[in-house]
Amino acid sequence: MDSYISPVKRVTGWLRPAWVEVDLAAVTANVAHICKVVAPAGVCAVVKADGYGHGAVPVARAAIAGGAVRLGVALAEEGHELRQAGVEVPVIVLSEPAPEAMQLVVEDNLTPTIYTERGLAALLDAAALQARATAVPVHLKVDTGMHRVGASPAHVLGLARAVAANPALSLEGLYTHLAVADDLADPYTQEQLASFDGVVSALAAGGTLPSLLHAANSAGALVHPDSRYQMVRPGIAIYGLAPASSMRGHPAVQALMPALSFKAEVSYVKEVAAGEALSYGLHYRLLVSSVIATVPVGYGDGAPRRLSQVGGEVLIGGRRWPIAGSVTMDQILVDCGPGAEVKAGDEVVLIGRQGDEEVTAWEWAERLGTIAYEVTCALSPRLPRIYT
Ligand SMILES: Cc1ncc(COP(=O)(O)O)c(C=O)c1O
Repeated sequence: MDSYISPVKRVTGWLRPAWVEVDLAAVTANVAHICKVVAPAGVCAVVKADGYGHGAVPVARAAIAGGAVRLGVALAEEGHELRQAGVEVPVIVLSEPAPEAMQLVVEDNLTPTIYTERGLAALLDAAALQARATAVPVHLKVDTGMHRVGASPAHVLGLARAVAANPALSLEGLYTHLAVADDLADPYTQEQLASFDGVVSALAAGGTLPSLLHAANSAGALVHPDSRYQMVRPGIAIYGLAPASSMRGHPAVQALMPALSFKAEVSYVKEVAAGEALSYGLHYRLLVSSVIATVPVGYGDGAPRRLSQVGGEVLIGGRRWPIAGSVTMDQILVDCGPGAEVKAGDEVVLIGRQGDEEVTAWEWAERLGTIAYEVTCALSPRLPRIYT
């Protein structure tokens, strides 16, 4: 028995050789790049959904090292995780927290988004219970056309007055979210910004304009200068990924470095005869006798079952090989062709670089008819994260 220990066991103690590797220096460099592009606007790094699958706490620290002055999350619980880890920068919860969550928001000094009277009342109740020395900072969200969440432009004026009039609260920010900023040709972004500017003017006229205005996601931050205001809220770009496949060639996007790789090791190798078929359903039939490598990852880890039907490939030995037959819950099969010198323990790259070859999250997304966001968010907690 040899004394081989896989990198994942050495670093994390996990026994299965399958892992996600996150290059935190890439996150820091991506945030520093975005800071430079958007200056003098500040950067609020969006680390919701466990940092788009990369790990919220390490990414948050890397983003702060790159110049981010705030963090954005979707849930109060996600903000709590950052606070528990000792992260102290302002953390904005990007949708109005449920009434039940306001207590945690106030306790953890998170910055709530507000767009309803119900949310405002719950926040005031939570603030009153805690007798804070300082006012709770509030950001109002206005719906300028995405129609997901946010108060209408007419409604937000009353909310602004109500927040500004209450000494327990401090009206710190006003923001909106852009629906099509990743489509440079679509004039709707300018329409949304015009609607936002109208709200800004109305608040200024009423003496309730907060100091932090923001609208831009990654696409807005990188390619729509008028959407930057005092702060931008990039998510996908801090992970080194383009907001849309069509934006990959844009110079501001090309400077980004993907931070995430998805790797494993070959667990088993066999020769399978011509005419045999592979995996559930026996949909993949061999025309020639081939070396088939088994890799111990599957849809239980976030490699979609459909990936094999849409031409999904992995890298072994610096070469691309097709995923052969259905992806199963815990394993995939790889057709390495006749006579391939592949052996158990060889590194397999499912997403990332090996030698001169690279499989990107966008490659998966395009094959699967989705976006890179969904690919990285889907990588399950069963894959330990290794930080480099
Ligand atoms: C309100 C808000 N701001 C910013 C972002 C970050 O968007 P992106 O990852 O496209 O930069 C999101 C993500 O969906 C969001 O919901």
